Amino acid sequence: MSTAIETFTMPLPDDFHAHLRQGEGLKAWARGHAGQFGRVLCMPNTLPPVASAARLDEYSQELARAIEALPEEERFELLMTFKILPGMRAAEVEAMARAGAIAGKYYPSGATTNAADGPRSFDEVEEALAAMETLGLVLSIHGEDPEAPVLDREWAFLPKVARLIERHPRLRIVLEHLSDAESVRFVERGPSNLAATITAHHLLYTIDDVIGDAMNPHLYCKPVIKFARDREALRAAVMSGSKRFFFGSDSAPHLRAKKECGAAASGVFSSPSALPALIALFDSVEGKAGREKLVPFMAERGADFYRMPRSTRVLTMERAEWLVPAEIGGAVPMCAGQPLAWRVARSTARSWDIL
Ligand code: DOR
Ligand code: ZN
Repeated sequence: MSTAIETFTMPLPDDFHAHLRQGEGLKAWARGHAGQFGRVLCMPNTLPPVASAARLDEYSQELARAIEALPEEERFELLMTFKILPGMRAAEVEAMARAGAIAGKYYPSGATTNAADGPRSFDEVEEALAAMETLGLVLSIHGEDPEAPVLDREWAFLPKVARLIERHPRLRIVLEHLSDAESVRFVERGPSNLAATITAHHLLYTIDDVIGDAMNPHLYCKPVIKFARDREALRAAVMSGSKRFFFGSDSAPHLRAKKECGAAASGVFSSPSALPALIALFDSVEGKAGREKLVPFMAERGADFYRMPRSTRVLTMERAEWLVPAEIGGAVPMCAGQPLAWRVARSTARSWDIL
């Protein structure tokens, strides 16, 4: 009797939202994406922030050095972003576009990690937004109103986005890491220059996994993971095959001590396990047809929206148990210590052998 392992071959996914960080930890954490993603859009909330052409050059060189340490077949392409700060001039935006940035990130002041320096309204960055619209750069938004109660922050921010769309009708906008059903409806009904990323953790979990029976700081993130009805809306959006929704992991490692303490930092370190966990989820809902639905979500729609060629590389996953490491580079990954039913096939990646 044959004992052949079931496999699933797909175009190599892209991750259109990730925090690779800087300094110590960067090399180990970059391994989370290695061999599983072809392109990674790198968020700019480093210290100091990526908010000038010189800093963008410096950070992309630091990232490139970390990627060079990976085996060639596991290396991924770095896509760069900058942080939009109050009063940012058009000339700076133009310089960062020349230096390779493809998107600018809007973090409302105080919304999340290293966002204290962010604008308090879109008015404070009008010149930068107008320049981005002219240059064809994508505006990536952390859509939360920090003044609203924490579970209402995302939908409370939507009217601001609606006004922005009216004011900048040609600006391509990505609402990042959607977490509630209201925002899903907002994106579905919006114009074609509006899209959204969805993370693995918002598709997999609900608030009960974060603060139900026990408090799990490793699933605490911004926007906070919401209710089952919100998760259903997110799953339906992905399953629908709509062009508006694509994958962004928002993988955001923090050292264990920064998570397991009295004031836990927000962020889920999801890159090592996101893809295997999502394949298992979609397989459990709809079998092979469910797995196929991950292809446009993870490997096509994002590239289309960012006007890049779709991936020409492929990745083979196999239905074989894989134990997620308990810790990587001092950070605890999503599903740490748990067995997952799918893994990257040995023939296509080697990271896990090295870890
Ligand atoms: O939970 C989060 N962590 N959300 C973000 O938007 C930023 C991220 C981080 O950088 O840690
Ligand atoms: Zn993020």
